Amino acid sequence: MLNNIGFDLWADDYDKSVGLSDEDGTYPFAGYKTILNAIYNRVLNASSKTVLDIEFGTGTLTSKLYEHGCEIYGQDFSDRMIELAQVKMPNAKLFQGDFSNGLAEPLTQQKYDAIIATYSLHHLTDLQKVTFLKSLLMLLSEGGCIYIGDVAFENRVALQKCMVETGDEWDDDEIYFVYDELKAYFPRMQFEQMSNCAGLISLQR
Ligand SMILES: C[S@@+](CC[C@H](N)C(=O)[O-])C[C@H]1O[C@@H](n2cnc3c(N)ncnc32)[C@H](O)[C@@H]1O
Repeated sequence: MLNNIGFDLWADDYDKSVGLSDEDGTYPFAGYKTILNAIYNRVLNASSKTVLDIEFGTGTLTSKLYEHGCEIYGQDFSDRMIELAQVKMPNAKLFQGDFSNGLAEPLTQQKYDAIIATYSLHHLTDLQKVTFLKSLLMLLSEGGCIYIGDVAFENRVALQKCMVETGDEWDDDEIYFVYDELKAYFPRMQFEQMSNCAGLISLQR
């Protein structure tokens, strides 16, 4: 698992390497653009105004929403990722901080129409995911929605199948979303498989 320095070093090359993995249709980023486009369309179609992006990286998704007038809030622990994102979104409220220590205090003082987390929360254990998602639900405004795009599967059988197909490239340090296990905690959770390895999870209060 990369730390903040590792992500600092990856930041300038991030968009390119993610794009290549997506275009090749290979794990882990196969489906990346499809997922980001789907979230982008849903956030705008729901007329969401305030958007929180958890671990926004270079701001690929949120900068597009910013251009459409959304008010963007976010947290990431990589200084370089924040620099790159802030250039694209000068007025976005972007905070530096490790999620292991929780959300930056000002971010907890706000309600959001949409909360986005793409390719980020897989460093949390399954139980930590449940606790964190519950805390995020409290930050949603009426009718708001959480969108999680990541390496994710309908069930553990599908995860195991992808793991075997991926072979040595599979990252054992990352803990991917398994929808039918999380749904036990969140009955309103919805899931769409977007590629052989990626899925989109939506969750409303
Ligand atoms: C794989 S990138 C995803 C970036 C972006 N969401 C996207 O979809 O392209 C993961 C991001 O999460 C950040 N990150 C990873 N672990 C973190 C943590 N514990 N706390 C805060 N940010 C973290 C990294 O700095 C990086 O920007």
